[in-house]
Amino acid sequence: MIFDTHAHYDDIAFDEDRDELIEYMHQNGVDYIVNAGEAVKSSLAGVEMGKKYDFVYSASGIHPEHANETTDSDIVEIEKIARENKKVVAIGEIGLDYHYEGYNKEKQIDIFKKQLKIAKDLDLPVIIHSRDASQDTFDIIKESGVRKGIIHCYSGSAQMAADYVKMGFFIGIGGVLTYKNARKLVEVAEEIDINNIVLETDCPYLAPAPFRGKRNNSLYIQYVAEKMAEIKGISYDEVCKITSENGKKIFGIQS
Ligand code: NI
Repeated sequence: MIFDTHAHYDDIAFDEDRDELIEYMHQNGVDYIVNAGEAVKSSLAGVEMGKKYDFVYSASGIHPEHANETTDSDIVEIEKIARENKKVVAIGEIGLDYHYEGYNKEKQIDIFKKQLKIAKDLDLPVIIHSRDASQDTFDIIKESGVRKGIIHCYSGSAQMAADYVKMGFFIGIGGVLTYKNARKLVEVAEEIDINNIVLETDCPYLAPAPFRGKRNNSLYIQYVAEKMAEIKGISYDEVCKITSENGKKIFGIQS
């Protein structure tokens, strides 16, 4: 039982075998996938995948890396996609990314706040992307009043993770946990209760250790689950079961 709470199957990396791969993964233990939006186009692609596959859900949102080219009508469209499609189960991925030079901080903050408001208005959880912007992300979420969602590909401190959990959020952990230099994330996994953790790929990116640098897919979550089981001292099956239940709870998935 695997729930991949964050994937990008609309990415061109899957163009040659998307449908075969999705079906193969489902036959081999991937029970749920949430495809994260990065812009209007990928949010719409997620909706289409959700129509095609009953176990695929999606999120509608604009990634901070696309802040510069985002218009007000894009924000309106993101809201419309989320409002009109039942299988859009979150607003995301949204947030802040100060990693690359030339980022527009004001614009990123502006579209982040607008999308947090959409989540609040529609009573949907958020999927948060935060890179080199931990404190700003935390402060803006806190101020927004949004109290449910996932801090995706968590990279902050164990203390901040605990603060997010206190606010009602889940910590999203993926392939990075299996990397040799993952000491900080291992610490987070040790500190945070398994009932507040979800697993994710961010595929095609961030493949776990044996496949690092290669194309990632939801089946590889088993390597993350194995590492998590080792850290938590519980069985692999328990990790998969609990994190899947957590995912269903966040996104309001009944079946
Ligand atoms: Ni992502």
